[in-house]
Amino acid sequence: MTLFRLDASIMPATSASRALGDIVEQEWATAHPESAVTRRDVAADPVPATAWQNAVLGGFTPEADRSPAQLEAGALAKTLADELVNADALLFDVPLYNFGVSQHFKTWYDLVLTDPRIGGAAELKGKPATLVTVLGGNYDDGTPKEGWNHSTAWLVRVLQDVWGLDLRVVERSFTLVGVDPALNDFTEMAAGLKSDAEEVARKSGRELAELRGAAS
Ligand SMILES: Cc1cc2nc3c(=O)[nH]c(=O)nc-3n(C[C@H](O)[C@H](O)[C@H](O)COP(=O)(O)O)c2cc1C
Repeated sequence: MTLFRLDASIMPATSASRALGDIVEQEWATAHPESAVTRRDVAADPVPATAWQNAVLGGFTPEADRSPAQLEAGALAKTLADELVNADALLFDVPLYNFGVSQHFKTWYDLVLTDPRIGGAAELKGKPATLVTVLGGNYDDGTPKEGWNHSTAWLVRVLQDVWGLDLRVVERSFTLVGVDPALNDFTEMAAGLKSDAEEVARKSGRELAELRGAAS
């Protein structure tokens, strides 16, 4: 058994997404102590920003005519795709940055999608997966910045609808409470959101470990 785990926090030492990912992984490890974990940290080891265009243009070019950069990008896409294809379950830990998707995750996603097994075929369809995402603020209905979180919906769209993963989502808002004094009024609410997210992470980890459908 193999779990693939991707992390995207730029501040791993204090990372809330990593902490929730650790809970999911712990449940997996308890059920599958012999399991391997394939780790991909797209913030510590970013996919080069030029790799995607090189892989796309290389795909339009006969193999014998591809530039060294195009061949290298294609090889990296294959390595990244192998990690997904060879895993039994997938875990993605991705924070919100600048009201949008982590650039590191997007760059990774775009490149891995150039591999024909990921972009063209239904290779990942039905694979159990968990998305952990964390938001510094709170964008729930009725909040002043409702609608400003342009990350979670896109992440769910591409993982669940484009790749067809059997996806569960663990989302924790208000991780900046306790960091930004302007949010001190929300201390109690944030503590509740944190423990709720931890419970969802435990449940999600158990489901992943059982390779059970998100809907069951
Ligand atoms: C450069 C930067 C930009 C951020 N932008 C946003 C943002 O637009 N909205 C938000 O709610 N939180 C934002 N945050 C807060 C992060 O989402 C929050 O700190 C989160 O917990 C980071 O993930 P991590 O704890 O796993 O590192 C930002 C944080 C950093 C460092």
